Amino acid sequence: MLKIGVLTSGGDAPGMNAALRAIVRNGIFREGEILAVQHGFQGLINNQFTPMQRGSVADIIQRGGTVLQTARCEEFRTPEGRARAAKNLRENNISSLIIIGGDGSFRGGELLQKEQGIKVIGIPATIDNDIGGTDFCIGFDTAVNTVIDAVNKIRDTATSHERIFVVEIMGRERGFLALYAGLAAGAESILIPERPTSLEDICNKLDHGFQRGKKHSIIMVAEGVGGDFYPNRALHKTPAYALGEAISDKMGLETRVIVLGHLQRGGAPSARDRILASRMGAFAVDLLCEDKSGLITGMVREEMKATSIGEALSLEPEINDEILKLSHILSL
Ligand code: F6P
Repeated sequence: MLKIGVLTSGGDAPGMNAALRAIVRNGIFREGEILAVQHGFQGLINNQFTPMQRGSVADIIQRGGTVLQTARCEEFRTPEGRARAAKNLRENNISSLIIIGGDGSFRGGELLQKEQGIKVIGIPATIDNDIGGTDFCIGFDTAVNTVIDAVNKIRDTATSHERIFVVEIMGRERGFLALYAGLAAGAESILIPERPTSLEDICNKLDHGFQRGKKHSIIMVAEGVGGDFYPNRALHKTPAYALGEAISDKMGLETRVIVLGHLQRGGAPSARDRILASRMGAFAVDLLCEDKSGLITGMVREEMKATSIGEALSLEPEINDEILKLSHILSL
């Protein structure tokens, strides 16, 4: 009988619980046994396994966060830590592990498979949407909607006070969230790490807007952007504050800055994320039933697809320049 361990790892993302529910219920449907691991890889090392029944995952499809908890685990980065984790898995007769998480978690999983022969399947769940082999990661759609809700409210104040707002969006290395939310929220400018913008370009855009009678502006900034407006990281903790000040200095205008921070990660998953998570969770179990492993689940043009972990991690998801260009045209 197939005995599968499942854990969540890295930053939480809305829809992780829906994926867990699908794994447990499809696993039992396929006559397997599912054991949940608490606290990510740390739980593997600490031997924290809980046998799951269909009822164990009742009432969680709508919940954000992860009921399994998640953690970053330094010990698992070492071969000794991974050996301990594998020993616990073997002692519990678990030969396969499903990891719901992001790229760092999959790297750890790939090593566990290579060094210890544990079969691993990864399910991409991150609001950064920065994993290859899938059009979208679990949690991204919900986070886009969360940002849009916040920006709608900010826009009320921006228009009422005729102000410039700089809104900082999560995304340390990638700008997918800022890009999609920026287009959907009607931002005047979108700054992402992949496409550097100068202060001059930003001010010219503001000027252009003022000349046609626009009196407010929303500038969306991914937290990972750099640029000539952000030369000294010790002075400004975040690029949004640096940009707000640089615009004030250069144009003599009042700006307001808001960092949306962790409110972007929580919340009930959207319909799209629940469907994606349910399909990916069930697909992960199906792959293991077919004796396949070392794979990441994906959805490409609405079809389920599996890609090897190595390939998915080496595929840099591409920023869609058409979206960036369109958001610029529509905000002129
Ligand atoms: O990877 C998801 C993410 O939310 C990033 O966008 C962000 O930079 C980071 O996690 C924040 O991590 P932490 O919750 O550890 O501060």
